[in-house]
Amino acid sequence: MTDDIRWEVVEESALTLADHEAITALLAQAFPDWSHWFLGSRSWSGMQPERRVLARDADGVVLAHVGVRRMFISVGSEDVLVGDTGLVAVSPRLQGAGMGRDLLERARSVLEGLDVPFGFLGAGEDRVPFYANLGWHHLDEVVTDYTAFTAEGAGMPMTEQGGWMVLPVASPLEDWPAGPVRLNAQQV
Ligand SMILES: CC(C)(COP(=O)(O)OP(=O)(O)OC[C@H]1O[C@@H](n2cnc3c(N)ncnc32)[C@H](O)[C@@H]1OP(=O)(O)O)[C@@H](O)C(=O)NCCC(=O)NCCS
Repeated sequence: MTDDIRWEVVEESALTLADHEAITALLAQAFPDWSHWFLGSRSWSGMQPERRVLARDADGVVLAHVGVRRMFISVGSEDVLVGDTGLVAVSPRLQGAGMGRDLLERARSVLEGLDVPFGFLGAGEDRVPFYANLGWHHLDEVVTDYTAFTAEGAGMPMTEQGGWMVLPVASPLEDWPAGPVRLNAQQV
């Protein structure tokens, strides 16, 4: 099985309709509670990524996916450039076999290529150990304001503590400013 897997990094503007449909199909399986968002070719839930990492099988079916987009966010009194990372998904039938680890290693390479100081993501509490295992730091005390995902109309303002994670990329973790985070946007 793994011999047939082909990994690629694709810029958003290079994605074809068939690519969007194949990604959407994976996301609907990996996030069954939100499968009503991932219909047809809607291969995003909030902000559209600028780059995607994809794993495909020999038939072109997307087996794993992560999206990244650069954005400035407010942290305390500073503006910080991050590579916002999201839509992390492995096909349910392949979960638990190391593909998520491979995916996150490739996401790190993309973040390094973009030369961002930090990666940033919001994870459900039960996923925090997965990311922490792979070098992401949990900002467990940090409160974050953001705009909720939505497939229908405007996203609503949300505030949450816990599940926010930072990956030191071009800067050390000590350079992450103190204070609450304001995304002023949806996430990938
Ligand atoms: C989360 C997800 C991407 C992980 O991918 P995966 O292929 O199952 O993960 P892997 O098999 O590569 O696991 C890598 C490591 O993380 C650990 N891990 C995986 N999921 C974990 C979890 N939920 N909690 C704690 N550790 C976890 C594994 O035990 C493994 O550790 P090891 O290398 O020390 O053995 C996958 O389960 C998935 O797509 N889930 C549904 C969508 C989702 O929740 N995405 C994340 C949204 S924040």
